Amino acid sequence: MMSKSIRVYSPATVSNVTCGFDVLGFAIEKPGDTILAEQSARPGVRIKEIVGSDSIPLNPLENVASVAAQALVNHVDSKIGIDLTIYKNIKAGSGIGSSASSAVAATFATNQLLGAPIKNTFDLIPFAMQGEQIASGAFHADNVAPALLGGFIIVRSNDPLDVVQLGAPPELYTVVIHPDVQIKTSESRKLLPAQVPLKSLVTQTGNLAGLVAGLLQHDYDLIGRSMIDIIVEPARAATIPGFKELKQTALDAGALGAGISGSGPSVFALCKGEASAQKVLEEMKRSYQNFNIPFDTYISPINKKGTIEIID
Ligand code: HSE
Repeated sequence: MMSKSIRVYSPATVSNVTCGFDVLGFAIEKPGDTILAEQSARPGVRIKEIVGSDSIPLNPLENVASVAAQALVNHVDSKIGIDLTIYKNIKAGSGIGSSASSAVAATFATNQLLGAPIKNTFDLIPFAMQGEQIASGAFHADNVAPALLGGFIIVRSNDPLDVVQLGAPPELYTVVIHPDVQIKTSESRKLLPAQVPLKSLVTQTGNLAGLVAGLLQHDYDLIGRSMIDIIVEPARAATIPGFKELKQTALDAGALGAGISGSGPSVFALCKGEASAQKVLEEMKRSYQNFNIPFDTYISPINKKGTIEIID
């Protein structure tokens, strides 16, 4: 058998984007996970190696990448064998779509090794979601879909799946601060209210509608005015040391808006233009140094390509 292999890059993502809990997300340029998928004679999907993390399971039944890949293999009823090497650049539990990135990269690579039985990239989302689900404990596509497709994505419905690509305003940049504390999405979801008052729903949907309109119309002021989350952020803010200060610092430095990335602990800001994003980043870094918690930072335009094959 001729040995086939493919290398795929899938980017980090910011989900929720304040008022869009579970329904809105976007992709950033870097960081992202890379997966090398190699065809093998032994049927089934295995994890050969994980480079860059020693906390992620090698057991194929517990690893988001192999679970996603195997879901696709099962769907097409193939006896293919695949060995995955995961180059982990997004820290697990960072809130910027670490598990989604690996699950998406593995799904995309597996489809290619199978000879692309899934013709429409959109249709890979449910397989990647099956991988993501074992990490987050919930079936949601707001990280997986932007990691796969790039740009901003609305998840209109998880079941049946209906996602809408919004693209991205050209001058939009994001800044991300990732404090080195772990927050499990499954735990963080337990903090959320089971019910919300109608008045809160009206405020939240107004903001989400405004944010989506701002993104489509490239209206940066409207984007900023709309980035307010009165339901999820208040329930999660206390889990992130220094969240309030970071958010206020970003806004004072000229960010359009700021909030929790996914379920945290990463905090993100959206900015108009690279110069503004640089300023916001510097101020957020300065502010966070007071907290004596190690942190990583990222600055990036919105990634419009999503997941790509890396050709050596
Ligand atoms: N929308 C999900 C949440 C994203 O906030 O729980 C988690 O990555």
